[in-house]
Amino acid sequence: KRVGVLLGGLSAERDVSLRTGEAVSGALRGLGYDVVDIDVGRDLPARLAAEKVDVAWLAVHGRYGEDGCLQGLLESLFIPYTGSGVLASALGMDKVYAKQVFVAHGIPTPAYRSFRDAASALAAADSLSFPFPVVVKPSREGSSVGVHICKTRDAYEAAVQDAAKYAGTLLVEQFVKGREVQGGVLDDEALGVIEVRAAREFYDYDAKYKAGTGTQYLFPAPLPPDQYARVNEVCLAAHQALGCSGGSRSDVIVTDGGEVFLLETNTLPGMTATSLLPKIAAGRGIDFPALCERLLLGACL
Ligand code: DAL
Ligand code: MG
Repeated sequence: KRVGVLLGGLSAERDVSLRTGEAVSGALRGLGYDVVDIDVGRDLPARLAAEKVDVAWLAVHGRYGEDGCLQGLLESLFIPYTGSGVLASALGMDKVYAKQVFVAHGIPTPAYRSFRDAASALAAADSLSFPFPVVVKPSREGSSVGVHICKTRDAYEAAVQDAAKYAGTLLVEQFVKGREVQGGVLDDEALGVIEVRAAREFYDYDAKYKAGTGTQYLFPAPLPPDQYARVNEVCLAAHQALGCSGGSRSDVIVTDGGEVFLLETNTLPGMTATSLLPKIAAGRGIDFPALCERLLLGACL
């Protein structure tokens, strides 16, 4: 069978995706698979046919890749693909819709408001129903693109203007202070929790992908056992609430008091050299090629 590793694409996370794709296709080639790398663009259906792709390994993040569009195209072409289906992908990619699903399932997540545009977010600056600091996020980007922590009203105004450059609604969330941890789920099993200690204000784009920014990774996260178990439970609940398949990685805050808050679930988590799902899996004895192969074998329509 010929595996098409779909990478690149048109989103703000294109560079991350190229690195995920390179790592995944290298691993699958190393295992002896017949692999072709395909950069996702408008000619995708023609390329998939010309390359006679039997199954697609999705290494694309963000819009058109992680948000259900690509999944829908592959469904229509009857090509099996890795990871979540159309609905879970679309829900997971939109932080506001995902939060509504989490709340409906009783999964703890920070208080929030959503706004259709910058003007309505600015008009609500003094009536947010939770105090500063707040976090402003475009609802449909990943890798912390366009995300700002705002301590003041001035910072809020600048953040809203920036986040409004991206597609989708604007999410304004209460800033919850605590430790940043991430939980991995694979095929409906919680794999464990890793703690990220960023030397920056939060685990932003540079801390995620640039070497030498001083980020430390601790696996298993050194949390008290009950908190560790709670994070695992919340990550699995989020994966199932969205209806995810294959792998997911959820971003979680644990407060000093031990309370757990889910920030979001990534349905196509990064698989670069510094990414977290591979680190979590490795900590559980699943090395990178084995993880890529397991996701491949789970591909279905
Ligand atoms: N959105 C990036 C790729 C991640 O969550 O890993
Ligand atoms: Mg994300």
